[in-house]
Amino acid sequence: MSEKLYLYPLWLRIWHGINALFFLVLLVTGLSMQYSDLNGPIVRFDLAVILHNIAGVGITLSYFLFLFGNVFTSNGRHYRLRLRGMFSDLLAQSRYYMFGLFKRQIPPFPVTKQSKFNPLQRFSYVGAMYLLVPVVAISGWALLFPETIVRQMFGLSGTLLTAMVHIVAGFFLSVFMVVHVYMCTVGRTPFSNFKSMINGYHESH
Ligand code: HEM
Repeated sequence: MSEKLYLYPLWLRIWHGINALFFLVLLVTGLSMQYSDLNGPIVRFDLAVILHNIAGVGITLSYFLFLFGNVFTSNGRHYRLRLRGMFSDLLAQSRYYMFGLFKRQIPPFPVTKQSKFNPLQRFSYVGAMYLLVPVVAISGWALLFPETIVRQMFGLSGTLLTAMVHIVAGFFLSVFMVVHVYMCTVGRTPFSNFKSMINGYHESH
């Protein structure tokens, strides 16, 4: 018998859908722009620039929906990191993913209304949403208005350093997304977590 918990309110599902869509556009166009060959990349260079800029503005605006939603609704409490015992909790969850899951053991941190994320989810969602996304967004806006960037920093071009920060943080976010989507297949069935993000209800075992 599976139990259903309403964990993903409508505003969150709308934000998540918009965010995932823009992120995919940013990923594909960002990768395309890495190549200087005008004919080689996945998306033509000039089109990639336009789409990247539009999706960058869009994902920044949608980020405010996430931020305000988490500040003004109870969803924000799931993003509070507790430093005490965090390392051992992360270890326990990793051990479960590596061994316990395959032995059909009970998860060490079952999903409840009070705590919908396991320690690894909480840690990676906080890292992605409160560190990496802001870094990518701020550096992206700076690159959109390069006149705002300091000319020289540590003897290097400020624009080059900003671009490096943007690319490195974007790379980590892309890795996050691949791992995130893969880990989402670990649910009651391989598709049940994806269904949750459509209807709002999490299905427990
Ligand atoms: C095609 C791409 C994506 C798919 C299919 C996907 C899928 C999902 C699913 C099924 C969940 C619910 C299960 C869970 O709580 O872990 C979820 C939650 C979440 N995803 Fe994604 N995701 C995608 C892209 C992204 C991206 C690009 C980000 C951030 C940059 C992101 C951030 C989050 C966050 C923060 C949550 C938790 C939301 C909450 O409950 O407060 N996702 N995602």
